[in-house]
Amino acid sequence: MYFVANWKMNPPLLKEAERLISQLKALVKGAKNIKDQKIIICPPAIFLPKLGKPNSSIRFGVQNVGFRERGAFTGEISVMMAKDQGAEFSIIGHSERRQYFGENIEACNEKIKLCLAHRVTPIYCVGETLEEKKAGKTRKVIQSQLEGGLRSINLIDAKNVIVCYEPVWAISSAKDASADTPDNVLGINILIRRIIKDLYESNTARKMTVLYGGSVNSENAPLYVKNKSTDGFLVGSASLHAGTFFSLIKKSVIQKQNVG
Ligand code: PGA
Repeated sequence: MYFVANWKMNPPLLKEAERLISQLKALVKGAKNIKDQKIIICPPAIFLPKLGKPNSSIRFGVQNVGFRERGAFTGEISVMMAKDQGAEFSIIGHSERRQYFGENIEACNEKIKLCLAHRVTPIYCVGETLEEKKAGKTRKVIQSQLEGGLRSINLIDAKNVIVCYEPVWAISSAKDASADTPDNVLGINILIRRIIKDLYESNTARKMTVLYGGSVNSENAPLYVKNKSTDGFLVGSASLHAGTFFSLIKKSVIQKQNVG
């Protein structure tokens, strides 16, 4: 399973980030059955080179990359720079990027293509806002995000994309946020695979890694594992505390062993 930590613009100081990583490494090292899990930490990019080498259990990613390879784009970090500093993954199209930085589907598409060209795995976030949900537009929104985000990406490259369903209203920082239900997440997981099948073919759709994000914590994570609605999680606030994040991983792994 995948456990992707999205630290967002936290913590404020490098020494706190270092502490968080070393606590997590110690917990993971001392645990049984965690070894095969994919734990991916996406810290603020500026901390990346300071957080040590990835090891077999903890790897690194960034929360965003620039939409061009290089050049006059003040403030941006390119995918090559991120990779050079240890990122193997990049979150793309997080709703906070769309909301606060005006990122549109075309930019997501450019970023996904750059990631794939440089062998950085894109974790492409899709999901509807509360208004879109209320208007019954969830399926349409996800369809257009997938079609647009994957435009002109060939079958071979598409196999290397991770999709994350993250409804905007479920993100813990949203007003009155609550996690989506495991049943609904299962329905969306099936929908995503159906869209991928139509865009590519059924084998790719079946094998694609599809994650869930939005108010995931150590209590509710096992419920999604139990109904097999996800291949893992994108975790925001619950990833900022090593003990909480580790407990989320451990409980999910135990549940996975129970459901087989
Ligand atoms: P949350 O954030 O787990 O705090 O809801 C998830 C995300 O925004 O990626």
